[in-house]
Amino acid sequence: MSARGLFITFEGIDGAGKSSHIEALAQAFRAQGRTVTVSREPGGTPLAEKLRALVLNDPMDALTESLLIFAARRDHLHKVIEPALARGEVLLCDRFTDATFAYQGGGRGFDRGVLTLLERLAQTGLAPDPDLMREPDLTLWFDLPPEQAAERLAGARVPDRFEAQPVAFFRRVAQGYADRFAAAPQRFARIDAAPAREQVWPQLCAALVARGWLAASASTADARP
Ligand code: TYD
Repeated sequence: MSARGLFITFEGIDGAGKSSHIEALAQAFRAQGRTVTVSREPGGTPLAEKLRALVLNDPMDALTESLLIFAARRDHLHKVIEPALARGEVLLCDRFTDATFAYQGGGRGFDRGVLTLLERLAQTGLAPDPDLMREPDLTLWFDLPPEQAAERLAGARVPDRFEAQPVAFFRRVAQGYADRFAAAPQRFARIDAAPAREQVWPQLCAALVARGWLAASASTADARP
């Protein structure tokens, strides 16, 4: 089993059910002796969590929103993600830059050329390889029809600025994820998030086993959510 750092992100529209699998995957890695950090975006550092509260609650235009999200990401990369990867750990992150292309680019219709520029600025120039643009080793994309996601979310809790959006917004977000997938399919594992949770977990495990990052026994272990 490889002991190099692994950066794995979880993506999908609100209501796709990704969050319930993150802790289970952390347990599966820990059961194999790996050190795991679970984090989220926007967020993951004290500064980035403050920016998250602004982005999720305060009205602002799409450029301001994108700048704050990438500022949070830069701080998170600098203080948490890069150090953990340099130590050879596993970093599981609830959302990363694909969410910006899906929500700000797809949902809000913001200029993807500007997002590409910000992505390069925020994710380059970090140790240990300053020339490398940091990207996830694997992105688990929880794909679910927006109508089904809306049903799952209905009445669940007080919605934030994104959860309060109409289903048409989430159709554009879902298309944004599909576009990112089409542009770099080797980085993604598409998870069919429509069935019950017990049928989603084996799909995650299969993606990790296929890459040699988890032992095949992990999918039957106690770690399942
Ligand atoms: P989410 O990850 O769903 O957390 P929770 O489960 O606590 O609601 O919420 C984060 C929200 O932020 C989500 O609606 C998507 C949005 N978001 C963006 O719009 N752009 C981004 O780049 C990121 C990372 C998140």
